[in-house]
Parts: sequence; structure tokens; C-alpha cells
Amino acid sequence: MKRFFFLFLLLAQVASAQDINIIPKPASVQVKPGNFTITRNTTIAVKDKEDQSTANFLNDYLQQVYGFKLNVKKRASKNYIRLSSSKPSIDAKDAYSLDVNKDGVTITGDTYAGTFHGLQSLIQLLPVEKSASLVIPAVAIQDAPRFSYRGMHLDVARHMFPVSFIKKYIDYLALHKMNYFHWHLTEDQGWRIEIKKYPKLTSVGGYRDGTIIGRYPGTGNTGKRYGGYYTQEEAKEIVKYAADRHITVIPEIEMPGHSSAALTAYPWLGCPNTGPYKVEQTWGIFDDVYCAGKDSTFMFLQDVMDEVMAIFPSKYMHIGGDESPKTNWKTCPLCQKRIKEEGLEDEHELQSYFIQRMEKYINSKGRTIIGWDEILEGGLAPNAIVMSWRGEAGGIAAAQQNHYVIMTPGTHVYFDHSQSQREDSVTIGGFTTVQKAYSYEPVPKELTPEQAKYVLGAQANVWTEYMSNPAKVEYQIFPRMTALSEVLWTAPEKKDWNDFEKRLLTQFKRYDMWGANYSKAYYDIDAEVLPSPDKQGVTVKLDAKKDLGKLVYAINGTQTEREYTSPLVIKEPTQVIGLFYKDDKLVDSLTLKLNINKATGKEITLNEQPSEYFPGEGAFTLVNGIVNRRGGRDQQSIGYSGSDLEATIDLGTAQQVNNVVVHALNSGGTYVYPPKGVEVYGSTDGENFQPLGTANTVSEVAGSKAIVKVEFAPATTRFVKVAVKNTQTVPEGKQGAGEKTWLFLDEIEVN
Ligand code: ACM
Ligand code: ZN
Repeated sequence: MKRFFFLFLLLAQVASAQDINIIPKPASVQVKPGNFTITRNTTIAVKDKEDQSTANFLNDYLQQVYGFKLNVKKRASKNYIRLSSSKPSIDAKDAYSLDVNKDGVTITGDTYAGTFHGLQSLIQLLPVEKSASLVIPAVAIQDAPRFSYRGMHLDVARHMFPVSFIKKYIDYLALHKMNYFHWHLTEDQGWRIEIKKYPKLTSVGGYRDGTIIGRYPGTGNTGKRYGGYYTQEEAKEIVKYAADRHITVIPEIEMPGHSSAALTAYPWLGCPNTGPYKVEQTWGIFDDVYCAGKDSTFMFLQDVMDEVMAIFPSKYMHIGGDESPKTNWKTCPLCQKRIKEEGLEDEHELQSYFIQRMEKYINSKGRTIIGWDEILEGGLAPNAIVMSWRGEAGGIAAAQQNHYVIMTPGTHVYFDHSQSQREDSVTIGGFTTVQKAYSYEPVPKELTPEQAKYVLGAQANVWTEYMSNPAKVEYQIFPRMTALSEVLWTAPEKKDWNDFEKRLLTQFKRYDMWGANYSKAYYDIDAEVLPSPDKQGVTVKLDAKKDLGKLVYAINGTQTEREYTSPLVIKEPTQVIGLFYKDDKLVDSLTLKLNINKATGKEITLNEQPSEYFPGEGAFTLVNGIVNRRGGRDQQSIGYSGSDLEATIDLGTAQQVNNVVVHALNSGGTYVYPPKGVEVYGSTDGENFQPLGTANTVSEVAGSKAIVKVEFAPATTRFVKVAVKNTQTVPEGKQGAGEKTWLFLDEIEVN
């Protein structure tokens, strides 16, 4: 009897593996009987002074979350948290072991960074209620990171954040076992780092006279001066703060593009045929770039880099290189002279010359450059690391040329994208869920095992056009950053979305404890719209985390809510509202306006598939009855770069048609132009088409939406062919003149 009772007690005290909610998932976790309780009398034992900062981090965390601190001593034999690190060795991986037994906790790193990472796992064994007693289960954990580069980027130029938030952001990296902070310091809209030799960079370039309101192209301008900068002292303080957390700060000084702020401060940096310049107040890509023909440009940038390298001990210096229009260089006598003298082919090779010249200088100071993947164009600088952002192609090409790469593809890790399909806040567009971020695999399958070694890791980019305050930054990074941490740390065979999801629910509680703002899009209702079986409309399938709450729906108003049990077939214009309740609280509602017309649900074929970057949900996107939900480039629209589109819709039977309405997007700053014209043809056999009508003007532009309506004499037809003309090249005088334009379509109505 007694023995059974004892056994019962023992079992009750063994935490199950499910109770260990550590993210990123460790390589190995063994749960043992018993536990250890951290009390005010627990001692942190630190032998090496290098581990002192790790002890401080624990104390700061305990103080902030649980309201007390521990004593730190050189040794303790019971009731201890012991931190110890091995002597540095070249094959060290920043691995750690974490052992908890009834006497205490022992964390042993193969480096000081390893010990610090071990502490992060210990922190995640603490309870997620502030008032709870700090009981932690006895465990033995062995762990090591998969990638050596685990990064987060932050743009402080489009919007600026106080030093206190930069530190908090660095703490977030630390809590996720990340080790690189990519600090994007210069832009068209502001220069944010003090350079003593060129004070106007900040006194002039650090401020703009207004900021657009709302989503580009905006509904107006604030007319309010905006700006600021970080002093060198503040930057050094941040470098130290990060180093105490085993995080390297990589500064980014953009060149040759994204430099309007620098040119405004020192107009002689631009091509002589250009200007005047201003610190930009809107978003996009601007023609004003450093003149590549003047040696004084390079002298200036070398001086800037000298001061930057003195602040930032990082081996890596990011020098940008992305989105640099060649417009000014094409007509600049000095740039053209440089092209001739250096025997360069064109302006792309001039950009390559620019980057290589800067690389040579930076290499001479013992540092390595990182550049965005455009630095591949016109020839890669010999020692450069490529940051692949326009998908993975740049990363693949660079690794195949035996260059190190850091993957930051827009498809998975642009945390400026929306993570919800709701109009809950303005973002740049896109749609990247936490699950999509989690699904990211940094090593492209195109690479051989030998080439794969050049993939150092990955990073999420956080561009802040639409993040004007810290709470919005937190909202955009959480919980996707948590998902990314597991992508970067955990071995691929240990990654499992369903398992991650369970741990994520605990992580939500940690965010609450931290007071962090985070997206609850995880609870979003998901809607799938498919052709109805008879193709006379659509079938709407709703999905939600039903094991965590209750999914109901309402038709044309919320008077009557019904529990959702099976897909809805919709054949006339209808508003469907899905509602998800968790703990009897509404956590998400989704409104789908189904604009059913003669084309909805019908067979549709396209002459050319959309861009791989903007595939929407394929051809059916255009006849799913949904006119773009958010006016953004989300999956409800399909995109074409530079090419036209011809869509043929089979109405099933011959019937009278009166007009065709094409719903497109309009966003000149990102090269998205409305259709140049639309031609409509009819056919009864699908072979011989007769013209029905043409429209060469946009009938309606509202914000980022553009509508082209083609009206014609009523005609009887079964097949409707809609030819949509792309503007093809950005017109002279517009941002990015000469570049290919994007054509984005989200719906074709036939009435
Ligand atoms: C970038 O997103 N322009 C690197
Ligand atoms: Zn020039």
C-alpha cells in the first residue's frame, strides 16, 4: 500500500515531455523524476567573469518578471544555478548542456555563448504565471544550434525607435537564441548614425519634413518634421548591450542607392546633372544615388566606414546594394566616363565596380562585406557575403560561386508582411503566417551538400514603413520570430509544426508576461473558396483551431449565428461572416463578400502563369467572387512582371453578356501600374473569337485599386476572352523609369 502511494507521488512529479515547452526545440531532452525550486535563497554560481553577464541576464529577467534577484557567488554546493563554460576551442558550436536535479541547476556551455543559450532554456522551464512558485522539472538537456547565423534585422530609418526599445529588441533576440542583429541605419527617409566628420548627415539627413499618411501612395502627409539619430555613444552602448548577450550588431550603411538623405546633407555626393534632393517623405525606390564617377564619393564613404568600423567591432559590414536605379548614372558624364575608363559593359557593371571598390577598402581594414543579392549583378565582389532577399535565387547563385550566403527571402521571412488576412492594420502587403515562417528551410534543395555549407543561416527583415512605434514592431515580429528561431536552431528532423503549435500556446503566455504585443492571427479563421460542384457559384470552406474554441457563421448580417459544420455553397451575391470564439470571447471574425457574377466559379485558363512570387491561388483567383480583400498584394491577386495576360472564361452555356470588369492594383512606387487597356472577345466554340469591346482607360482608381470596365452591345457568347495589357515599362519621370512594370489582377467580372 505504502509503496504504491510512493510510486504515485513519484509519477505525479515527473513532468511529461509535453510539459517542456522550450522554443527552439532542443536536440535532446530527458525528463527525470523530481524538481528544483528557485527561491530567493538560491545562489547563482559563476566561476569565470565572462559568465557574469549571463548571470546578470537571469537576474534582470527574474526581477522584471517575478520581482526578485539572486545572489551571485563564485561557488555554491546546494540550492544553486551553476554557470560554467569550457575553454574556447575551434570546433565549439555554442552548444550547452542543462541539468536540473533536486540540488540545483548546472549549465555548461562549450563557449560562453553556449552557456548563455543554456540559460535561455532554463528561463523557458520557469512557470508562465508571475505569481507561481518557481518550480522547474528535473531534466537533462543536450543542445546545439544548426546554423551559425541566426539573425533579425530592424530598419530604424523609415521609423526610428528609442535606445530602450533597441535594447528590448536585442533581449528578444537573446531569448530566442539568436546571435546577429542587423541594424539598418541609413535610408532615403533618414540617416540615423552620427558621423563626426560629416555632421550634416544627421543634422540635415536625419530629419524629413513630413511622412505620408496611410498606405502608399497615401491619403496625405503629416507635414510634421520627423527624425532623429543615434549618437556614437548610444551605438557603442547598444553594441556592448548586445555583446553581453552574445549578439553581434551588424551595421548597414546603404550604397549606392537608398541614399537620398545623405545626398540632401551633401549634394556633391550626387551626379552633377541631378538634384535638388530631399529627405524623402514617402516610400518606394528613388533615383537619387551616389555618383559613381567621382572619387570624392568613395573618399566620403571610406571616411564614413572608418567611423562605423570604430563603433562596431563586427567582422561583417553590410553595405546595402539593393534597389539602386541606374537612371542618373545613364546620363551622368562622370559616371559614363568611369564606365569608359574602367572598361565596364554598362551601369550594372558600374554598380559592381562601386561595391568592389568599397569591398577592397573594407577588406583592407580586416572586415568582410555583406550585400543584398543585387550585388551579384555585373559581377560579385570577391569576398562578399550575399543576403538573398528576392527569393532564394541570389543565395543559390552565390553559394554555387562558393560565396557565403544569408537567406532572407521575401516569401517566408519578411516580417513587414501581413500575418493575417484581416484589415486589422496597414502593412506593406504580402501574407506570411507563423506557419509559413515555420515551414522555411534555409538550405535550398538546388545546392549540393558541399555548396550547402555556404549557407550561414537566415534572418528575418523588419522594414518599418508601416511600423511607427515599438508596439507595432512587436506585433509584426511575434510570433513569427519565435517560429524562425526554431528554423535556425533545431535540426530539420526534429522540426514538427504540430508539436511547435503546442509549445507556441505557452509562448503566448510568455509574451503576456513580458508585456509584449503580439499578433493573434494564429487563431484566424481560414477560408478556402472553391468552384461550386455545378460551377454556378462557389463553395466556401471555413477552418479554425476548433479544438481551442468554437467556429460559427452568419449570412448577410450577424443576427443569426449557426455553428459551422460543413462547407457553404453560395450562388448569389452574399456576405459570409465567420466568427471564432475562444473561452466565450470573440477572437476572430472574417467577412467574405462574394460578388457572384456570370464568371464566378467557371472554368478559366490563362495564356501565361503568374510570377512565382505572386501566384495567388492560380487562375481561379480571378473568378472566385472575391475582389481583393485588403487592396494589397496578397494571395487574392496574381502578378505579372512586364508581360500581358490573356484569360479565357468558359461560361458553360451560351448566354447574354453586357460588360466585363477587370479589378487590378495600382501602386506606382512599387512599379505596380493599372492595365494599359483591356480587350474582350466572345466565342461560341472556344476557337473563333470575335471582338466585343475595348477599354483603354481606367474607369476608377481608388487608393491602390484600379478598375477597368469594358462595355459593349449585348452579345450572346459562351467563351469570354479578356486580354489585359501591361504598361510594360515604368514611364520616364516616374520612380524606376525604364524598369518592368507589374500587372496585378484580382478579379474579372462578366455581367
Ligand atoms: C530589400 O528588401 N530591399 C532588401
Ligand atoms: Zn554620376
